[in-house]
Amino acid sequence: MTNGKKLIIGNWKMNPRTGDEALELARGIAGRLGDIGRSGVEVGIAPPFVFLEEVAGVIKGKVSLGAQDVFWEDEGAHTGEISVGELKSVGVDFVIIGHSERREIGETDEDINRKVRKVLNEGLKAVLCVGEKEDMRNNGIDIAKRFVSGELEKDLEKTRTVLEKNPEGLVVAYEPLWAISGKEGSEAASPENVAEMISFIKNFLKASGMGGGEKTRVLYGGSVDSGNAGEFFGREEIDGVLVGAASLGAEEFLKIVKSASP
Ligand code: PGA
Repeated sequence: MTNGKKLIIGNWKMNPRTGDEALELARGIAGRLGDIGRSGVEVGIAPPFVFLEEVAGVIKGKVSLGAQDVFWEDEGAHTGEISVGELKSVGVDFVIIGHSERREIGETDEDINRKVRKVLNEGLKAVLCVGEKEDMRNNGIDIAKRFVSGELEKDLEKTRTVLEKNPEGLVVAYEPLWAISGKEGSEAASPENVAEMISFIKNFLKASGMGGGEKTRVLYGGSVDSGNAGEFFGREEIDGVLVGAASLGAEEFLKIVKSASP
């Protein structure tokens, strides 16, 4: 069983523009989280790399800190890349891996698998994103399920031993590409469909012996906002949400957090 707490992660993507704005947003969230953060919910934010260190200073102990990507080597001639050790040195707790916006620019399942393994081996949490494209879903949920289980199989290869030791190290985020805001005509998936897919993912992980069994939390992401978040939290199968656009305003993000608080 998971710890029963709903997990809410804000993925800031390539926002905001300046360190001052990042600090203001982080302060706005951490400062007003108050007791919410301690009662039945866990909150994390994933700012761009360049703001991680400053943001860490204002959210410590209240909100966990995530990076949006990582590289699998420890150090050396890898221009533009960031290692797990470097992330740890600025206080990062978790790393989002395999987001569809990175897959779209060429990240492969093999890359993703290397990153997941490295992050888990180093003791950080990996938030692995999976999800089908619109044309797949249009062919029925079974096609989407087959695609998602295929992603999990490839992305979680050779993680069994490390997950046996730390089953809570893995979080899966189910993010159907067609539901992510900013895409033309996107809208959130229905809570019924999400619950069905998340049950499928959990059963698949258990049956295949992949993932951390019952300890692996599975989140939903795609156009979550304060208006619809409660419907997702209302479903037992859904362990939390990964929020993009609606995590860029402290007020809106806190409303989402509140709607998960018992
Ligand atoms: P969105 O993004 O909430 O803006 O749809 C979610 C995500 O891409 O993680």
